[in-house]
Amino acid sequence: MLFSAVVSSALLFGGGAVAQSTPPGFVPAVNKTLDVYYGSTYITPGLLVRKSVTAKAPTIGVTGETLTGKYLLAMIGKLKPSSRTGRTTVLHALLQDYTPSGQVQNGTNVLTTKATGPSSYFGPAPPAETPKHPHNYIFLLHEQPSNFAVPAAHRQVVQSRLGIDWSKFMKDAGLSDPLYANYLQVQSGDNTKREIKFEA
Ligand SMILES: *[C@@H]1O[C@H](CO)[C@@H](O)[C@H](O)[C@H]1NC(C)=O
Ligand SMILES: *[C@@H]1O[C@H](CO)[C@@H](O)[C@H](O)[C@H]1NC(C)=O
Repeated sequence: MLFSAVVSSALLFGGGAVAQSTPPGFVPAVNKTLDVYYGSTYITPGLLVRKSVTAKAPTIGVTGETLTGKYLLAMIGKLKPSSRTGRTTVLHALLQDYTPSGQVQNGTNVLTTKATGPSSYFGPAPPAETPKHPHNYIFLLHEQPSNFAVPAAHRQVVQSRLGIDWSKFMKDAGLSDPLYANYLQVQSGDNTKREIKFEA
């Protein structure tokens, strides 16, 4: 009771008290922001971007902390239940073996990986819907356990990318809570090519 009262007053007063790096209501909630750059576009939590901006995997890292060890990045699309397709989550990336690269970009200690799996990156492509609305795409950075592997119960979902239950995945894979997170939004049916034509 007390917790929900605190949360709603924080929302009413602009969320200043609780710095959230995950969308309202998303579990696990994270308040340390993962630095995410798509080329020269820096993602502030909740930023609405064109689909075309997100075509290639972003550069990620953290500010104000020197990480050591290995990290796992998940990117999860959370479609509104009203979505025509009936889907609620789409796994857009699950990339392992991120380590500090030693590079610094705009104050960010950049993390890189050579891995392209367990699930390679593919950019947001929300379906066309009426009325249009933005969909959330959430980035979660976890410490990677030394024996990390996709648990058997999640292999099919990781392969099909549909319907991932991240809280359950975390539990089954022995992941602790995400250290850093961020999210962006892309409007349903965003077809940047067509929009460029209209604007030209
Ligand atoms: C961030 O999260 C931690 C752990 O949940 C909490 O202790 C801390 O108060 C939070 N900080 C802010 C600014 O919300
Ligand atoms: C650099 O990072 C800050 C946040 O730390 C951000 O506000 C700014 O847009 C970034 N600038 C560039 C050029 O990426």
